Amino acid sequence: MAKLLILYDSQTGNTEKMAEAVAEGARSISSVEVELKYFARPEELAEADAIIFGSPTYYHEITLPIKQMLEEAARTKVTLQGKIGAAFGSYGWSGEAPEQILEILKNRFGMQTIEPAISILYEPKQAQLEECRKLGKTVAEEIVSK
Ligand SMILES: Cc1cc2nc3c(=O)[nH]c(=O)nc-3n(C[C@H](O)[C@H](O)[C@H](O)COP(=O)(O)O)c2cc1C
Repeated sequence: MAKLLILYDSQTGNTEKMAEAVAEGARSISSVEVELKYFARPEELAEADAIIFGSPTYYHEITLPIKQMLEEAARTKVTLQGKIGAAFGSYGWSGEAPEQILEILKNRFGMQTIEPAISILYEPKQAQLEECRKLGKTVAEEIVSK
Protein backbone atom coordinates (compact mmCIF):
# COMPACT_ATOMS: atom_id res chain seq x y z
CA MET A 1 0.00 0.00 0.00
CA ALA A 2 1.25 3.47 -0.86
CA LYS A 3 2.43 5.40 2.18
CA LEU A 4 2.16 9.09 3.02
CA LEU A 5 3.93 10.55 6.03
CA ILE A 6 2.86 13.87 7.51
CA LEU A 7 5.44 15.20 9.95
CA TYR A 8 4.96 18.42 11.83
CA ASP A 9 5.90 20.60 14.74
CA SER A 10 3.62 23.09 16.44
CA GLN A 11 4.21 25.01 19.63
CA THR A 12 0.82 26.68 20.11
CA GLY A 13 -1.40 24.38 18.04
CA ASN A 14 -1.91 26.37 14.82
CA THR A 15 0.27 24.21 12.58
CA GLU A 16 -1.20 21.16 14.33
CA LYS A 17 -4.70 22.13 13.14
CA MET A 18 -3.31 22.42 9.63
CA ALA A 19 -1.60 19.02 9.95
CA GLU A 20 -4.83 17.35 11.04
CA ALA A 21 -6.66 18.84 8.06
CA VAL A 22 -3.90 17.71 5.66
CA ALA A 23 -4.22 14.18 7.10
CA GLU A 24 -8.01 14.27 6.81
CA GLY A 25 -7.78 15.21 3.13
CA ALA A 26 -5.20 12.51 2.46
CA ARG A 27 -7.33 9.88 4.23
CA SER A 28 -10.14 10.53 1.77
CA ILE A 29 -8.06 8.46 -0.67
CA SER A 30 -8.57 4.99 0.73
CA SER A 31 -5.72 3.26 -1.07
CA VAL A 32 -3.10 5.35 0.74
CA GLU A 33 -1.85 4.66 4.26
CA VAL A 34 -1.52 8.00 6.04
CA GLU A 35 0.60 8.51 9.13
CA LEU A 36 0.55 11.78 11.07
CA LYS A 37 3.23 12.36 13.69
CA TYR A 38 5.98 14.62 15.03
CA PHE A 39 9.01 12.60 14.14
CA ALA A 40 10.27 9.88 11.83
CA ARG A 41 13.66 8.21 11.60
CA PRO A 42 15.53 8.40 8.27
CA GLU A 43 14.59 4.77 7.45
CA GLU A 44 10.90 5.64 7.83
CA LEU A 45 11.33 8.60 5.49
CA ALA A 46 12.90 6.26 2.97
CA GLU A 47 9.93 3.88 3.18
CA ALA A 48 7.33 6.58 2.45
CA ASP A 49 6.14 7.40 -1.07
CA ALA A 50 5.40 11.00 -0.11
CA ILE A 51 6.31 13.20 2.84
CA ILE A 52 4.56 16.41 3.85
CA PHE A 53 6.34 18.57 6.42
CA GLY A 54 4.65 21.18 8.59
CA SER A 55 6.57 23.80 10.50
CA PRO A 56 5.59 27.14 11.96
CA THR A 57 8.07 29.99 11.50
CA TYR A 58 9.97 30.97 14.63
CA TYR A 59 12.85 33.45 14.40
CA HIS A 60 12.54 33.41 10.58
CA GLU A 61 13.25 29.70 10.46
CA ILE A 62 11.97 26.15 10.36
CA THR A 63 11.66 24.95 13.97
CA LEU A 64 14.41 22.82 15.47
CA PRO A 65 12.68 19.39 15.55
CA ILE A 66 11.90 19.57 11.83
CA LYS A 67 15.31 20.99 10.96
CA GLN A 68 17.04 18.24 12.93
CA MET A 69 14.96 15.55 11.23
CA LEU A 70 15.97 16.89 7.81
CA GLU A 71 19.61 17.17 8.87
CA GLU A 72 19.64 13.62 10.20
CA ALA A 73 18.17 12.37 6.93
CA ALA A 74 20.88 14.24 5.02
CA ARG A 75 23.60 12.88 7.29
CA THR A 76 22.50 9.28 6.93
CA LYS A 77 22.24 9.77 3.16
CA VAL A 78 18.80 8.17 2.82
CA THR A 79 17.49 8.27 -0.71
CA LEU A 80 14.43 10.44 -1.05
CA GLN A 81 15.05 11.22 -4.71
CA GLY A 82 11.86 11.36 -6.75
CA LYS A 83 9.50 11.03 -3.78
CA ILE A 84 6.70 13.55 -3.55
CA GLY A 85 7.17 16.35 -1.01
CA ALA A 86 5.07 19.25 0.23
CA ALA A 87 5.11 21.78 3.06
CA PHE A 88 2.82 23.89 5.21
CA GLY A 89 2.93 26.01 8.33
CA SER A 90 1.43 28.79 10.38
CA TYR A 91 3.22 32.10 10.79
CA GLY A 92 2.86 35.55 12.36
CA TRP A 93 4.61 38.07 10.10
CA SER A 94 7.33 36.72 7.82
CA GLY A 95 6.51 33.01 7.37
CA GLU A 96 9.71 31.66 5.82
CA ALA A 97 9.57 28.06 7.09
CA PRO A 98 7.35 26.29 4.52
CA GLU A 99 9.30 27.75 1.57
CA GLN A 100 12.60 26.85 3.25
CA ILE A 101 11.37 23.27 3.63
CA LEU A 102 10.45 23.05 -0.06
CA GLU A 103 13.91 24.32 -1.02
CA ILE A 104 15.54 21.61 1.07
CA LEU A 105 13.26 18.87 -0.27
CA LYS A 106 14.02 19.92 -3.84
CA ASN A 107 17.66 20.89 -3.69
CA ARG A 108 19.08 18.62 -1.04
CA PHE A 109 16.96 15.53 -1.51
CA GLY A 110 15.85 15.79 -5.14
CA MET A 111 12.20 15.33 -4.22
CA GLN A 112 9.36 16.23 -6.53
CA THR A 113 7.60 19.06 -4.71
CA ILE A 114 3.97 20.09 -4.84
CA GLU A 115 3.90 23.89 -4.93
CA PRO A 116 3.15 26.34 -3.53
CA ALA A 117 3.60 25.57 0.13
CA ILE A 118 0.64 26.54 2.32
CA SER A 119 1.32 29.36 4.77
CA ILE A 120 -1.44 30.52 7.10
CA LEU A 121 -1.43 33.56 9.36
CA TYR A 122 -1.83 32.41 12.99
CA GLU A 123 -4.87 30.19 13.57
CA PRO A 124 -6.32 28.64 10.40
CA LYS A 125 -9.91 29.58 9.50
CA GLN A 126 -12.36 27.04 8.05
CA ALA A 127 -11.63 28.02 4.42
CA GLN A 128 -7.91 27.71 5.04
CA LEU A 129 -8.34 24.28 6.60
CA GLU A 130 -10.10 23.31 3.40
CA GLU A 131 -6.94 24.33 1.50
CA CYS A 132 -4.98 22.03 3.81
CA ARG A 133 -7.38 19.14 3.16
CA LYS A 134 -6.96 19.76 -0.54
CA LEU A 135 -3.17 19.57 -0.24
CA GLY A 136 -3.39 16.21 1.56
CA LYS A 137 -5.77 14.87 -1.05
CA THR A 138 -3.64 16.13 -3.96
CA VAL A 139 -0.51 14.47 -2.60
CA ALA A 140 -2.34 11.19 -1.93
CA GLU A 141 -3.81 11.21 -5.45
CA GLU A 142 -0.38 11.94 -6.87
CA ILE A 143 1.12 8.84 -5.23
CA VAL A 144 -1.70 6.64 -6.46
CA SER A 145 -1.32 7.87 -10.03
CA LYS A 146 2.47 7.36 -10.07
C1 LIG B 1 9.23 33.74 19.99
C2 LIG B 1 8.46 33.77 18.70
C3 LIG B 1 9.11 34.01 17.50
C4 LIG B 1 8.40 34.07 16.30
N1 LIG B 1 9.06 34.33 15.14
C5 LIG B 1 8.35 34.46 13.99
C6 LIG B 1 9.02 34.83 12.78
O1 LIG B 1 10.23 35.02 12.72
N2 LIG B 1 8.25 34.95 11.66
C7 LIG B 1 6.91 34.74 11.66
O2 LIG B 1 6.27 34.83 10.61
N3 LIG B 1 6.25 34.41 12.79
C8 LIG B 1 6.93 34.27 13.95
N4 LIG B 1 6.28 33.92 15.11
C9 LIG B 1 4.82 33.69 15.07
C10 LIG B 1 4.46 32.21 14.95
O3 LIG B 1 4.94 31.68 13.74
C11 LIG B 1 2.93 32.07 14.99
O4 LIG B 1 2.48 32.39 16.29
C12 LIG B 1 2.42 30.71 14.57
O5 LIG B 1 1.00 30.75 14.49
C13 LIG B 1 2.84 29.63 15.54
O6 LIG B 1 2.43 28.38 15.05
P1 LIG B 1 2.21 27.10 16.01
O7 LIG B 1 0.93 27.36 16.80
O8 LIG B 1 2.04 25.96 15.09
O9 LIG B 1 3.40 26.99 16.89
C14 LIG B 1 6.99 33.87 16.31
C15 LIG B 1 6.32 33.63 17.53
C16 LIG B 1 7.05 33.59 18.72
C17 LIG B 1 6.30 33.33 20.00
